[in-house]
Amino acid sequence: MNQIYLDNAATSWPKPECVPVAVSDAIMHYGGNPGRGGHKLALAAGELLYDVRERTAGLFGCNDPFRVIFTQNITMAVNLVLKGFLHPGDHVLVSPMEHNAIMRPLAAIGIAYSIIPGDINGKVKLSEIPALIRKNTRLIIICHESNVNGVIQPLREIGQAARGNGLFLLADCAQSAGHLPIDLEKDCIDFLCFTGHKGLFGPTGTGGVLFGSRVDVQQITPLLQGGTGSLSESFDQPSFLPDRFESGTQNMCGLVGLNAGLKWIEEQGLQTIAERSKDLITQLHEGLTSIPGVQCYYGGGQVLSITIDHVDNGSAAAELEERWGIMTRIGLHCAPLAHKTLGTFPNGTIRFAVSPFNTTEEIETTIRACRTLTEEACRKK
Ligand SMILES: Cc1ncc(COP(=O)(O)O)c(C=O)c1O
Repeated sequence: MNQIYLDNAATSWPKPECVPVAVSDAIMHYGGNPGRGGHKLALAAGELLYDVRERTAGLFGCNDPFRVIFTQNITMAVNLVLKGFLHPGDHVLVSPMEHNAIMRPLAAIGIAYSIIPGDINGKVKLSEIPALIRKNTRLIIICHESNVNGVIQPLREIGQAARGNGLFLLADCAQSAGHLPIDLEKDCIDFLCFTGHKGLFGPTGTGGVLFGSRVDVQQITPLLQGGTGSLSESFDQPSFLPDRFESGTQNMCGLVGLNAGLKWIEEQGLQTIAERSKDLITQLHEGLTSIPGVQCYYGGGQVLSITIDHVDNGSAAAELEERWGIMTRIGLHCAPLAHKTLGTFPNGTIRFAVSPFNTTEEIETTIRACRTLTEEACRKK
């Protein structure tokens, strides 16, 4: 039986072939530690690190590669911003579709938040923003594309609203990076957080944050302190970028793989990738909504969720995998707030997330499989 991988919102698979090749090449030939030595291998690693920093900056419209800070994933990037930028007593606005990567750090540091009301898919209503702003509001946090129903938020309009009201904007681009155009400056983003292992096709263990030009990085407390290979005579953390926020040896193999993923995206073109994925998810959405007994939650991106009447999500997912080789993810997808917004809390949904490596045949099989499960449940009822 073939495998049909539709869990690309968790992590993308397969990666373009150039990614594992680059990772293996890095381990075999670029063994040095960037910034930690003057020999050939350390210098080569330093050049590679700069290359991926520059390419990441280029993808997101940032003209200073040193304002790209690499972290292990977006969760760490978000923690860096929320814990370094916010202070007790601050208030923030969040979209109704936020992931626990946002909600848990906010809870941990005790930051008060208001949820911007959204439409039926959780798309924020811009007109609601002004009334929610308080004297102590500092930041708007937006999940650009939901990892539950794929709803895409109007980042630029929200960014303009933030600027118009003297607020900063944090964009969680975990799901959107790699297929939606995102521009740090034009979209008025102050903190652009991304993860490397989803739509950017890098390995796990990669991600980061880009600081917009309005951000005074000296006002942000680093999440970590430690060795940077620079100013080693001092116990104080260097204040310059990227060292202020990048302590400890980088995940070089991962970042080299991310660089290969980014190059692949450049070669294919964002538009081509977006169109390919859009065709597949549209095919899936149309097929699933035509099945009586299937409830579909879809807001426009590369991800959609369903529930099947009279079928438990867990047994549906198990059958999809056992009988047709289809891999999905069920439950709350680390986003209970999004499920509350969609009315699918606490049981959650069955989630399908495509990548350009899926095929129309795989999508046809998935629709047929869901139809079969629904009909069987109907007969048993
Ligand atoms: C919207 C969103 N934000 C944050 C994350 C966290 O990503 P990571 O586990 O790579 O930190 C995810 C991943 O599931 C996500 O979908």
